[in-house]
Amino acid sequence: MSLNVAPKIACIGAGNVGATAAQYCLEMGLGNVVLTDIVEGLPQGKALDLTEAGPIRNYSVTCMGTNDYADIAGAGLVIVTAGLPRKPGMTRLDLLEKNGRIIAGICEQIKQYAPEAIVIIVTNPLDVMVHLACKTLGFPSGKVLGMAGCLDSARMRAFVAMELGVSMKNVDTMVLGSHGDAMVPLPQYTTVSGIPVTQLLSAERIAAIIARTRDGGGEIVRLLKSGSAFYAPAAGATRMAQAILRDERQVLPCAAYLNGEYGLSGLYMGVPCLLGRSGVEKVIELKLTPEETAALHHSAREVQEGMKGLEELGLL
Ligand code: APR
Repeated sequence: MSLNVAPKIACIGAGNVGATAAQYCLEMGLGNVVLTDIVEGLPQGKALDLTEAGPIRNYSVTCMGTNDYADIAGAGLVIVTAGLPRKPGMTRLDLLEKNGRIIAGICEQIKQYAPEAIVIIVTNPLDVMVHLACKTLGFPSGKVLGMAGCLDSARMRAFVAMELGVSMKNVDTMVLGSHGDAMVPLPQYTTVSGIPVTQLLSAERIAAIIARTRDGGGEIVRLLKSGSAFYAPAAGATRMAQAILRDERQVLPCAAYLNGEYGLSGLYMGVPCLLGRSGVEKVIELKLTPEETAALHHSAREVQEGMKGLEELGLL
């Protein structure tokens, strides 16, 4: 008789982001992981390697690799990282068609084998892919969400900490909007141990940090030359998984479905969300300046452009 009642987590895509998310989930003991990919041997090899790391890294949760979606049956949480990463010079929108077809296909499988799961999408272009996933899955919108704000906020936290020479743990930030150049980092909600960052840094330095945050993904792509960031994206997805699986009721920026909040409806975009057992339990509306609201609406137009692109491709 097995006493192992850990939740089942399916990581779809066993590439850089997916395998790293699997590693973090295992190391945090969040659940038993099923790593899935279309490439034969890849998820099996990585899952075995992760299993063999277990005795040293001290986890008792399990990891299996598969090419068969039937193995995700009963998963309570699915993290989708399958798709192509950005190459140098490529925008996230260039990825639209290829990743759109991949996400639609995967969501058909999730719908069939894990109809009760909460689904976190990581694949880019993020906000548009979450919309497509929700439509394909037909799940309640709160059970389908996207990982971007956690990543963008973490990048901004790191940059503020580096600039001030303080612990990253002391820095809180909030980055809203689409995951791309039009994201909306909010200095008025950025604090260092509760002290507004505007009291600690000049407007010029804050502007430089905002610009670096917006270009955060691109900076890594240029350095790596092939492939895109994966440690921080996987960390962001695992953070959301933790909040959901442990019903932590944490407020984190996530791509959530908007139903009139911030004056926007009918699209997914990054906003602060209360995360708990049932996924997005609430979208929190912050007070924004007219400039911030305009930036958020500009961001929304970018997402709507992507949605239009998917419609033209017959995917949405
Ligand atoms: N089903 C399952 N896996 C798939 C499918 C599919 N239909 N199509 C592609 N994959 C797998 C690939 O075989 C590959 O192993 O997805 C994996 C993607 O891994 P990487 O190429 O290493 O890409 P990664 O860096 O992990 O990024 C994945 O996350 O952050 C985003 O922009 C990034 O959209 C990209 C995604």
